[in-house]
Amino acid sequence: MARVPFQPFQLEEWQSLYEMNTEFNLADSGVQPVLLSEMLQTPDAVSAFLNSDLHYPAVNGTELLRQRIAALYGPEVTADQVLVTVGAAEANGLAVTTITEPGDHVVVLEPGYRQVAGVAANNGCEVDAFHLIEAEGWRPDLDELERVVRPDTKLIAVNNPNNPTGAILTELEMEAIIAIASRVGAWILADEVYHGSETSGIDTPSFHGRYDRLLITNSLSKAYGLSGVRVGWIVADAETAQDLWRRHEYATISTSNLSMKIAELAVEPVRREELFTRNRRLVRDGFARLADWAGSTDGIVTVIEPKATALAFPRLDLNLSSLDLAHEFRHDGVLVGVGAHFGVEQHVRITHALEASYMDDAFARMSGTIERLAGAVGRAER
Ligand SMILES: Cc1ncc(COP(=O)(O)O)c(C=O)c1O
Repeated sequence: MARVPFQPFQLEEWQSLYEMNTEFNLADSGVQPVLLSEMLQTPDAVSAFLNSDLHYPAVNGTELLRQRIAALYGPEVTADQVLVTVGAAEANGLAVTTITEPGDHVVVLEPGYRQVAGVAANNGCEVDAFHLIEAEGWRPDLDELERVVRPDTKLIAVNNPNNPTGAILTELEMEAIIAIASRVGAWILADEVYHGSETSGIDTPSFHGRYDRLLITNSLSKAYGLSGVRVGWIVADAETAQDLWRRHEYATISTSNLSMKIAELAVEPVRREELFTRNRRLVRDGFARLADWAGSTDGIVTVIEPKATALAFPRLDLNLSSLDLAHEFRHDGVLVGVGAHFGVEQHVRITHALEASYMDDAFARMSGTIERLAGAVGRAER
């Protein structure tokens, strides 16, 4: 079989190249990060952490961490259904390479975080998308999903709440996706990393327990504000969890011992709720600030209010590709996500849940860019 040309992960490549050398980084996707000192709140906790041995930890995740993660999904879920990974990034990658083989058909949701699409394509799969429709407030086009799913579709991947739009599927939409998957026996991969970041304060329902061919991925990076800890997980039936574990040994062996200590604290129910409350406050304040700024741009920037996530995916009516536009912002010192990297032109992705003064300075810079461009390239036709 011919080797497939490698597809780079454009979004992460963009961030790797520029996030360390641009003055304002609004291209990230989480809230203002939590400090280690905020996680280790007592002298005992500090001492336990400092006295951690620096040996390899349990490869599939410590028993305590896997038990605590399992409990988040219900009393019937056991620790052997959980694999702890290096972020949801590893979890998603393992999910694709465990479930699919070259030649399989995979369906993803767009606009979206294109990791699953890229890994599947690099693995020799054929990838199609179904879309969230902007004119309907980013609702999923389920008729399109019906059309693109085939008898040989192996995997349907959704990200809920969605990066970059912040849209949340309704339970009816979730059930419709499951019904379509079940008709052809496809697996569903539900990436739920933004669970816990809802502005309403109401938890997004999980796909867990609704279907048997199901993989749930999640991590500490978004709603918990702990992306540097690099802990994620995947929940599946116990047999599939073993298959994932065998691939995890090749990929990374394990995540870090120290990270799992922090993770054990973070997923403990009381602390988890505190972290989610912090996240939701930052997300609500951040979006209000972004909406004010958008309102000051003479209609050039318009945005559908996200229901969750620290992100907004505004439309910019300027006569420029999203990549050129993002480069213009970057030259003025602000890094934003490029719409095309999520599958949609005329948009950029902006993280807004960072410190107020940082955001205000970055928005002032972006207003300057927009004014300059409105004169130079003109406004795009709607
Ligand atoms: C939807 C989604 N899934 C997975 C990831 C990977 O996250 P991490 O590996 O930090 O858990 C990201 C990061 O931006 C994401 O947005």
